[in-house]
Amino acid sequence: MNILGIESSCDETAASVVRDGRTVLSNEIFSQADMHAIYGGVVPEIASRNHITVISRLADEAVKRAGLDKSGIDAIAVTAAPGLIGALLVGVNFAKGAALALGVPLVPVHHVRGHIAANYLAFPELEPPFLCLAISGGNTAIVDVRGYTDMSIIGSTHDDAAGECFDKAARVLGLPYPGGLPLQNLAEGGDDTSFKLPHARIEGHPYDMSFSGLKTAVVNTVHNALQKGEELDRAGLAASFQRAVSETLVPRTMDAARDLGYDTVVVAGGVAANKRIRADFEDACRREHKRLFVPPLKLCGDNAAMIACQGYYEYLSGVRAGSELNAYATMDIDRAAF
Ligand code: KG4
Repeated sequence: MNILGIESSCDETAASVVRDGRTVLSNEIFSQADMHAIYGGVVPEIASRNHITVISRLADEAVKRAGLDKSGIDAIAVTAAPGLIGALLVGVNFAKGAALALGVPLVPVHHVRGHIAANYLAFPELEPPFLCLAISGGNTAIVDVRGYTDMSIIGSTHDDAAGECFDKAARVLGLPYPGGLPLQNLAEGGDDTSFKLPHARIEGHPYDMSFSGLKTAVVNTVHNALQKGEELDRAGLAASFQRAVSETLVPRTMDAARDLGYDTVVVAGGVAANKRIRADFEDACRREHKRLFVPPLKLCGDNAAMIACQGYYEYLSGVRAGSELNAYATMDIDRAAF
């Protein structure tokens, strides 16, 4: 079964064809990051307009590169939540029109479920159940993945997402948007013990997280140095920040895996590209004899192959939508009902 996946939840427009949920036949991505960089973050209106400009060309290209023509597409899967509402609506409306024109089923997909599914594309042997840490620009959650379409959040951030925190710390350090990779590069030359930064704990919620105190501590450190005219050890601050984020994410995920009795740990989302976090997970899983799955870098960020993959499993579980399908800026991963 060939599914055309469509993704437009933030600043990447993407289209991909995936066969039987696991084989990527094409994976087209148009990133708008450069267009938003001058504003220091994504401008929703600009994102929506750019999606409109490129989406149909990208979908045509994805079908062509898959070696198919439109009659070879058996279903359309589309990200319908969560994300920027205007951006999501472009993908949802395009997918509705395409499904109607081709006479094929339309399958709505939760974006974070898609991030988790990126791992199925990279690792054919991976099947639920497992414990997953989903870390992206807009979401940070520890997810109990019982089945392909049966999952629940057991821990999440009370404020900023991990990626959002990376982007804000990077911005105050004078780095371009999106800040995760530049901050990682800056941290390479730094000592991660240079600055003592907060590691918040939420009383009574051992798997929950908070990043706003960490973000504020980085902002204050930079501003204090500026006000006093002191030279700031930027690399040391970046390395200390990365360490604090990793020390928030990794032990909680490992605790949850142990408590729930899982021997498989999966990491998903844009922040899963982070070298420090990947290395700390590798160490922790080696120590505790757990299997670790982290997608290759090209499948960590937003893409449509992961949407087509998750769309396949949603399709198998009977999920369908019609022309009444709407997009939603927020939606829980465990209540992905469209
Ligand atoms: O998954 P994604 O592409 O989009 C969302 O679904 O949100 O994640 C984007 C986020 C951004 O905040 C970006 O700074 C972060 O992932 N990111 C990283 C790295 N590469 C991307 N964060 C830390 N280290 C990286 N190497």
